[in-house]
Amino acid sequence: MVSKEMYTFEDSEVVELVELRTAAVTYTASLANEAGLVNFSNLVGNFTLAAETAFKAGRIPKTPENQQLLQNLRDLLGTLQIYRYQGDRELSPRAAQIRDSIRRVTFGDVISLRPEATASVCRAYIEHNMQQLPQPVKLYYMGPMFRRERPQKGRYRQFYQIGAEVLGGSDAPAIDAEVIEMVMTFFDRLELQGVQLEINSIGCRDCRPKYVELLRAELLKVKDKLGPDSQRRIETNPLRVLDSKLESEQTIIATLPRIADHLCEECAAHYAAVKHQLEARGVIYRENWRLVRGLDYYMRTTFEITAQGLGSQNAVCGGGRYDGLVELLGGPPTKGIGFAIGEDRLILSLQESGKAPVQQGRDVYIAWMGERAHATAIRAAKDLRKAGFSVELPPMEQKFGKALGQADKLGAKYALILGDNEVSEGLWTLKTLADGSQLKLPEPALIEHLRKSKAVSS
Ligand code: HAM
Repeated sequence: MVSKEMYTFEDSEVVELVELRTAAVTYTASLANEAGLVNFSNLVGNFTLAAETAFKAGRIPKTPENQQLLQNLRDLLGTLQIYRYQGDRELSPRAAQIRDSIRRVTFGDVISLRPEATASVCRAYIEHNMQQLPQPVKLYYMGPMFRRERPQKGRYRQFYQIGAEVLGGSDAPAIDAEVIEMVMTFFDRLELQGVQLEINSIGCRDCRPKYVELLRAELLKVKDKLGPDSQRRIETNPLRVLDSKLESEQTIIATLPRIADHLCEECAAHYAAVKHQLEARGVIYRENWRLVRGLDYYMRTTFEITAQGLGSQNAVCGGGRYDGLVELLGGPPTKGIGFAIGEDRLILSLQESGKAPVQQGRDVYIAWMGERAHATAIRAAKDLRKAGFSVELPPMEQKFGKALGQADKLGAKYALILGDNEVSEGLWTLKTLADGSQLKLPEPALIEHLRKSKAVSS
């Protein structure tokens, strides 16, 4: 679905084989001389032996293909010298065959890190027979996703999404509107600034292909004026041309046919009803006929929400309807709609506008000086932590002035000052950093005092 951005790799534990494989397939010295051929034979021999051992031990997949490839390698290896005497022309094709066989031996399952979670949620719906639950089923998820994109502000290779999906039941436009209303309410509660909702309908299996063909035909007429990416997309996915941010293409794109004018009757009615339902909920939207979204599973409603302070990667949420995806993954025909919030971008935008919660400082910083005071400080830290306070206990002795500066930097509410005097008198000094006031109290009274002040502030 987003294959070009996927992190895909062979999940293998046989590191030594990976190294031997690389050495054998990248060996470039000539095989025409004795030394070159001996080296190459050794590399291939080492690889084959190690792979056979790993195969027997089940450390690489025990597939018939692997078995056959290892057999081929054994046979070819044994004949390398013979081919050598028949000349370079015989030897080269054998060496190529050997390299090819080595490349094709599999070391483990090929796995991909998930680039998004909608497909996984659909699979879970199928696997857990959720169509038997009261419909629609409403699900949510939070977690890391991975895409091999060019990193920049707000675009990372590992990022976090909070998503929600509504599966099954009907495709009533009220569901689309309620899903959008929910995320807009969430953003409103967070006081996210500059929130803008854009919506579109990209039609269905009946009307979209006709529109795509029309678009392709129109794009071909202006092909020469488009950049290389868009030129390529005319063939691969003309809809994505509408996504282009290239300045020179904007006036051309503005003249292209718009999908809203080519929706079938049902899709047009659905789109009109979604807008009506949004209005009924007081959700403010802007229509954007170019909002096609990058994932292939969408149909009808698509939407994106942007916020301020994010630069070019300003979408904090994307979503849409994907009726048919569950079926595509082997389940029953099922309606579906949902969204995913980019958590990193959400936090970034909140931080930029000063709405992110400030980091909590420590409750108590223990400033101590002297061996005896250190022992008392360790005990005090233990007791205070047990009583639920967050405590910073410096590992090394510092002058009180420096320690208090440190306490300030960490945003501590109190500094507990423990010097030799305090320890011998059994009277501890507690400084409130906000106003500089000081108290001298015996240990139990001091802890009681902190406990009370904590109860008041929370
Ligand atoms: P998406 O538009 O690809 O949709 O991603 C949703 C959001 O994830 C984006 O709006 C953005 O905030 C965040 N995001 C995407 N890529 C990155 C990245 N590289 N770094 C930081 N944040 C990123 C989906 O993933 C769909 N599965 C949403 C959906 C759910 N549609 C229906 N249901």
